[in-house]
Amino acid sequence: MPTSHGLLDGKHGIIFGALDERSLAWKIADACRREGATFVLSNAPVTKRFGSLEALAEQTGSPVIYADAQKDDELEALFDQVKSEHGPVDFVVHSIGMGVNVRKDKPYEDLNHDWYLKTLDISAASLHRIVQAGLKQEALADGGSIVALSYIGAQRVFSKYSEMGDAKALLESIVRSFGYRLGKRGIRINSVSQSPTRTTAGGGISGFDAMFDFAEQLSPLGNADADSCADYVVTLLSDLTRMVTMQNLFHDGGFSSMGISDRTVELLAEAMGEDGS
Ligand SMILES: NC(=O)c1ccc[n+]([C@@H]2O[C@H](COP(=O)([O-])OP(=O)(O)OC[C@H]3O[C@@H](n4cnc5c(N)ncnc54)[C@H](O)[C@@H]3O)[C@@H](O)[C@H]2O)c1
Repeated sequence: MPTSHGLLDGKHGIIFGALDERSLAWKIADACRREGATFVLSNAPVTKRFGSLEALAEQTGSPVIYADAQKDDELEALFDQVKSEHGPVDFVVHSIGMGVNVRKDKPYEDLNHDWYLKTLDISAASLHRIVQAGLKQEALADGGSIVALSYIGAQRVFSKYSEMGDAKALLESIVRSFGYRLGKRGIRINSVSQSPTRTTAGGGISGFDAMFDFAEQLSPLGNADADSCADYVVTLLSDLTRMVTMQNLFHDGGFSSMGISDRTVELLAEAMGEDGS
């Protein structure tokens, strides 16, 4: 565990999306606490039945306020409560995603469009809902920072990622659209495009292990794990990055700049019965 640099001393925020200890949001919460922040944890009410958010709440000394990211009234009530108890928040972490067709193994050419809309709503429009609810309740502090988690499937086709590529493209567009509008108050908003990581959401994608292994061997630094993702997110929530906004920032061990590596050539050659030289 890295030592604290006090990067978030005195800051208060909301972290959406910690389900269990593998969740990116769980690791982000731990890192935020280490750096001196206080925060409210939130997840969908349905996760009370199968998640372990209460354990994280106890571990970090944080209250939990459940809200469904598809429901404006629940999000507005959350921001209203947080504001009345602590004042406007300095940061928001959006770590929410669900691919309904992906989970049900529906191929991209044969999507159930009700499920598709649900995927876009949960995984992307929820960022818009959250920021809009925060603005409506006057619960976002000037100079604050908002971070959402994305994936390179927004820019490139990863066949098994399917509809989630569309969701991440929309998410990153919302980051830009809000970045313009929040800038006049010094509020920043960025997405972090993370390596494949073994979490509940990650594991819901068929072929995840192959995507993980492919990225692992292609990335010069290997796949970025959840703890390093959390450390990177902390920097974006801190004042050290106060002039960074509207960006999609790759946190992927260099994967996004690679084409092919010697190791990939060798593996392909072996598979095809050639010598690779
Ligand atoms: N795991 C990966 O490989 C990977 C890679 C890049 C980006 N991401 C992104 O990171 C984010 C976090 O995912 P994770 O991998 O930590 O998995 P996770 O399953 O731990 O987190 C996803 C969270 O979304 C929450 N959620 C789903 N529907 C919701 C709703 N209606 N209202 C509120 N919350 C809801 C879930 O309860 C869960 O806590 C997601 O946006 C995901 O797409 C994940």
